[in-house]
Amino acid sequence: MTEQDFIPKSYNSTLESGSVKWASPSNIALVKYWGKKKDQIPENPSISFTLSDCKTITEITFTKKESADFSFDIYFEGEKNEAFKPKIQTFFERIEIYMPFLKDYHFKIETSNTFPHSSGIASSASGMSAIALCLMSIERSLSIVEVTDEVFNQKASFLARLGSGSACRSIEGELVVWGKNESIEASSDLYGVKFEGEVHSNFKNYQDTILLVDKGEKQVSSTVGHQLMYGHPFAKERFSQAHDNLAKLKTILASGDLNEFVKIVESEALTLHAMMMTSMPYFILMKPNTLEIINKIWAYRQKTDSKVCFTLDAGANVHVLYPENEKESILEFIKNELVSYCQNGHYICDQIGLGANQI
Ligand code: DP6
Repeated sequence: MTEQDFIPKSYNSTLESGSVKWASPSNIALVKYWGKKKDQIPENPSISFTLSDCKTITEITFTKKESADFSFDIYFEGEKNEAFKPKIQTFFERIEIYMPFLKDYHFKIETSNTFPHSSGIASSASGMSAIALCLMSIERSLSIVEVTDEVFNQKASFLARLGSGSACRSIEGELVVWGKNESIEASSDLYGVKFEGEVHSNFKNYQDTILLVDKGEKQVSSTVGHQLMYGHPFAKERFSQAHDNLAKLKTILASGDLNEFVKIVESEALTLHAMMMTSMPYFILMKPNTLEIINKIWAYRQKTDSKVCFTLDAGANVHVLYPENEKESILEFIKNELVSYCQNGHYICDQIGLGANQI
């Protein structure tokens, strides 16, 4: 597939109005995307677990208008939101060539998250993928040819990527690969693909408890962080390491080797933050409590035979990952030893999920 393949040929233009609604989940990367070329073409491949409960729910109501410019309003959690407008405007400009109906309608975009606002959880992945899916549903009703689910998901992911890179991994579940990698034949830089390799039962219903260490605004956005990979002294090595780690993870997912899984996942998280600490300008997004939690997890693993591990996004919060059969003991461990490091004692229990669904 090339970009050109996503440009539709023609539409049935009789549709006057309608409304579509999607719930789209967040995702947590195991091998991290950090560094991109123009329009979110990733410098290296990544793979993520799709989450189940951390979702954005978006409804788009559309009404026909004279074609002139983009016209839309955004409501976030019931209230009109001007702050999100520029981001959506840029998104519409980027995708217009692939969605030529965008100027023919006025859109009312109503969106809300299942996770608390300002929890420090990245909502761009769930938010952008939810909008992309709604627009795909509209396109499907306008299309004169049948849009198969495969084409639908692929283009939804392609569009979501143009909104925010990691959003392209939120369409399907349970594991999604994005970025060309030799070990995964169907992989592409343009969109995420469902990981079709063998997955051992150890990874069934894998748990992710998100410890909210810092709910504040990040000092450095992901967009700026990605840019700092240009001319980064370790960029070349890092990008090739991500390719190797993805290939290794493919084998680990099949064998169910949780010790090796822990090594790759934690190393990826720390490498991501090492890249931040060694860029120019350099920055640190972890907080003292992030490190306290990491050390507690390591100590717990040493004294038990637990396979619990952590990963980090571009922020201070810690994702605690563990197999379903450890659910009871790890939740106990979290309550007894980790909650005190969370802001206001807040954490969110989630697990691996199956992807977005239309409501
Ligand atoms: C650290 O997808 O938020 O979470 O493409 O600029 O919108 P943009 O960045 P974004 O970057 C996420 C980076 C990450 C790692 C990951 O999810 O792979």
